[in-house]
Amino acid sequence: MNATTKFFSLSLLAILALLILPAAGSTAQEPDAKIGTTEKAEENDELEKNMKALKKGMRFLSRNLENPQAQEAVIQTLQSMQSSAIGAFSSGPRPFTEEGNKDPEKWNLGFRQRILDLTQVLLHLESAVFTKDSNQVKASWQKLRDLKKDGHSIYLEEDEDE
Ligand code: HEM
Repeated sequence: MNATTKFFSLSLLAILALLILPAAGSTAQEPDAKIGTTEKAEENDELEKNMKALKKGMRFLSRNLENPQAQEAVIQTLQSMQSSAIGAFSSGPRPFTEEGNKDPEKWNLGFRQRILDLTQVLLHLESAVFTKDSNQVKASWQKLRDLKKDGHSIYLEEDEDE
């Protein structure tokens, strides 16, 4: 191996080391912030935005759900609410109760479960509207209201709901 080849081999090794070492080091880094917990409860803009969108959707539904002329707009509203629910999924509030602080993992799991339940009921409702199954529409509407009540009774700190 002449001097030039040796120089290039060493340079190549150095470049490889630079590329590999940071990647190897990252395995020892802190994992990303845990899903579903926001940095500060008072800065939960994402959740607030999505909750406001859900409220707007509920208003529209309460006036139009039983109106066959509005079927298309109702379906659009439901799909948009599904996106809002999914948007809220990772923005659960920090625990503020004794029980929540004792077990933050359980607190947040409960939040995400309820948001998924909400999304699923919104899907069922869309399906019921689409097939014009009025009994199912009524049942899903009631479930939606119950889920909101239950979610707020646990996760809404101040009584700021309508
Ligand atoms: C259709 C169902 C729901 C509607 C219409 C709704 C509506 C709202 C509204 C209007 C607010 C107040 C937003 C603001 O102005 O700051 C709010 C806040 C909140 N909701 Fe809901 N909600 C629903 C379901 C849920 C569920 C299922 C949960 C829990 C799993 C939940 C958890 C919260 C929390 C934690 C806040 C406080 C957000 C913040 O920090 O600003 N909501 N919701």
